Amino acid sequence: MADGEPRTAEQIATIANVDPRHLKELLSANAVNEYVNYEHDSERFYMTPEQIAVFATEQSPANMQGLWQIIVAQFAEHETAVEVFRTGKGRPWGEQHACQFCGTDRFFRPGYEANLVNQWIPTLEGVKERLEAGGTVADIGCGHGSSSVLIAKFFPDSRVFGFDMHEPSITDARNKATAAGVENVEFSTADAATIPSNGGYDFACIFDALHDMGDPVGVARHIRNGLKPGGTLMVVEPMAGDNTEDNLHALGDVFYAASTLICLPNSRSQEVALCLGAQAGPKRLGRCCATQDLVQFVSRRPLRPISFSRQETRKCEVDIAHPGETLKKSEFGARRQPLGNLASGYTTVARRAPVSVVLVATPGSPKILSLAACRT
Ligand SMILES: C[S@@+](CC[C@H](N)C(=O)[O-])C[C@H]1O[C@@H](n2cnc3c(N)ncnc32)[C@H](O)[C@@H]1O
Repeated sequence: MADGEPRTAEQIATIANVDPRHLKELLSANAVNEYVNYEHDSERFYMTPEQIAVFATEQSPANMQGLWQIIVAQFAEHETAVEVFRTGKGRPWGEQHACQFCGTDRFFRPGYEANLVNQWIPTLEGVKERLEAGGTVADIGCGHGSSSVLIAKFFPDSRVFGFDMHEPSITDARNKATAAGVENVEFSTADAATIPSNGGYDFACIFDALHDMGDPVGVARHIRNGLKPGGTLMVVEPMAGDNTEDNLHALGDVFYAASTLICLPNSRSQEVALCLGAQAGPKRLGRCCATQDLVQFVSRRPLRPISFSRQETRKCEVDIAHPGETLKKSEFGARRQPLGNLASGYTTVARRAPVSVVLVATPGSPKILSLAACRT
């Protein structure tokens, strides 16, 4: 369905090699939830460009399939989760269901592919230049290594070291590097608190992993001590405000839930057990990393659209961005419209967050033209 063409359930079943009657039932369920659309005259199902971005394009930063895998992982072992929740005894990352690991990589990787090399690294003073000249990089808590492989690929004269304490993830990361034909990256199983300095790092980065650690303060200190003079530590964390009330929106919903089941239990299972949580916010992250002058933060992710239900759509307001346009914070609110009032052709894929703006495609356009990433 990723081509957007309307087809009957029978036609789709032939392509997908599944039973047509069962597929029709499933497609109808998805049509109820507006994940696909149904044309009653021709009895055909199709997806809009926005639905394709969320459900059917792996490279899309809006793709949510990895998140569903993470949810499946939680259902599969919910008795363990209940026990951990009741006792507070902690649960190491490696004791999650296997879907957790590939789901996490699938969920975050498109965001790294879209932003890491083109946007995040260039915003850091001097980092791109050092990596182009041939620097040494540490990617700590690298998981399946997508970010490490990306950096190694785009900076072939640099050497990249990826570390994670979860051995199966490191095996997967090595396979990923081999499949990509990237040779200037090396992966090791290691606790972030004890990674080797490899002669000093020009650039160290932690993607969505600092808050998972039991001792983020000690880890940040250890990594800072391993930087070369003028080296940079980049911490990428889920977008969050400093206070709980700042995070009571759709994105906070996802990250607080994941944090309850995954991040806090992992932190609790490690030394110090700080339990920072996945919505830590810049102030607490800043305190963890201690020396603001040495550390530049990239603590906000760009827009990651989330599909709203029809009811939410009615009450959700968005600012309209033109294709390719990035709204500044000062422009927030100036072009606000209720999402539910928009003419068809506008996307119904949106994210609601207090300080973020949403991409909306042009009226009447059958295509989503671009995603507006807004920095605040
Ligand atoms: C949410 S995942 C993020 C993985 C990857 N950076 C990404 O963005 O896809 C958090 C990762 O941190 C790793 N981790 C947690 N505590 C760690 C520690 N103390 N030392 C090293 N890795 C750790 C986990 O094994 C897991 O792979």
